Amino acid sequence: MDRLKLLVIDDDPKTVKSLGRILDNIRPLWTLTWADGVRTGIKLFRENNYDAILLDIRMPVEDGFKFLEITSQEIARTFTPLIIETGSLEKGWKAKALRLGASDLIEKPFDIDETVQVVESLVERSRNHRSLFEQAEGLRELAENKNRELEASKFSFLIRLAQACEVRDQTTGHHVVRVANLSTFIGKVVGFSEEHLTSFYAASALHDIGKLGIPDSILLKQGPLSTEERMTMELHCQIGADLLSKSHSLELVESIIGHQFPSQFQEDSTLQMARAVALNHHESWDGSGYPNGFAARDIPIEARVVCVADVLDALTSDRPYRKAWSFQQGLAFLSERSGKQFDPAVVQICQDNQSKIFELLESPTLYSKETVVAA
Ligand SMILES: [Fe+2]
Ligand SMILES: [Fe+2]
Repeated sequence: MDRLKLLVIDDDPKTVKSLGRILDNIRPLWTLTWADGVRTGIKLFRENNYDAILLDIRMPVEDGFKFLEITSQEIARTFTPLIIETGSLEKGWKAKALRLGASDLIEKPFDIDETVQVVESLVERSRNHRSLFEQAEGLRELAENKNRELEASKFSFLIRLAQACEVRDQTTGHHVVRVANLSTFIGKVVGFSEEHLTSFYAASALHDIGKLGIPDSILLKQGPLSTEERMTMELHCQIGADLLSKSHSLELVESIIGHQFPSQFQEDSTLQMARAVALNHHESWDGSGYPNGFAARDIPIEARVVCVADVLDALTSDRPYRKAWSFQQGLAFLSERSGKQFDPAVVQICQDNQSKIFELLESPTLYSKETVVAA
């Protein structure tokens, strides 16, 4: 091993000089840096990259253990081999040094062949470890990037799907995106994690996906619905949930493609959440909603949030059959129906964050109206 940078921490200049002289002969390209105490050693170690450290234990002021105590984590992280110089070791010192991260021990006065041999084999081992570690890090980063890419494309695909449904009913403007914005903000106040919020954004945008299965004559009707029409309209919750349920035809697809999808493919947590929201977003806190008449905490929290965001956005938007309500009128409606149609805690969040909610209802959406209409 030709080139090698060695840090020697030793209070005795004679030891270091004689080591330097001998190394000059047999390893002329080795660079030897001398630190005469622990503090200088720490400073040099932190400011430079050394291939190995030789450390004396018996030193005045602070001993070698002090160096080990302070730097053991950095030593481990940088895979730097640290060799203890031993003159006479007291009982327990060897174990203590090894416990603190020393790689090996060599005796003083130095047997130069042994010293070179120990240093070179430790440096080689540490270089191998470091390169394996870097390879593993590289692979981990690659996998993480791939995962993020997949997540982003799934997210974008789901939002586009939600948008696609809305193209059919252009009277609602950008309802799905506003409901998603509003729901996600409320979810954040409720305490959803970042990961949960990402899924929730897509799930809330998809709340009305079941309207794809409602005939135009009912979905686009300008005026009140008959009882029968209303019952058909209410089916959009179940239709949406069915659409977002597990696909049962994957086995057949797999046999045609000749490739097996990973098992979690069928249990995607975002789709599970979207299914729960689609099914339950018209349930009421007091059990008077549809399709199942669930009440209170039997309704998933995500659906309770979307229920409030959905109604607030619908009320404060223009519809062909009525003008938009003011934001304050919308809030008053939420309060009046709190504990009946709506989860009181969710209504309270809207009351406590009025300016943010108003801003979200008014803010421009991700997709321009032109894009949606042209599509
Ligand atoms: Fe709905
Ligand atoms: Fe809606």
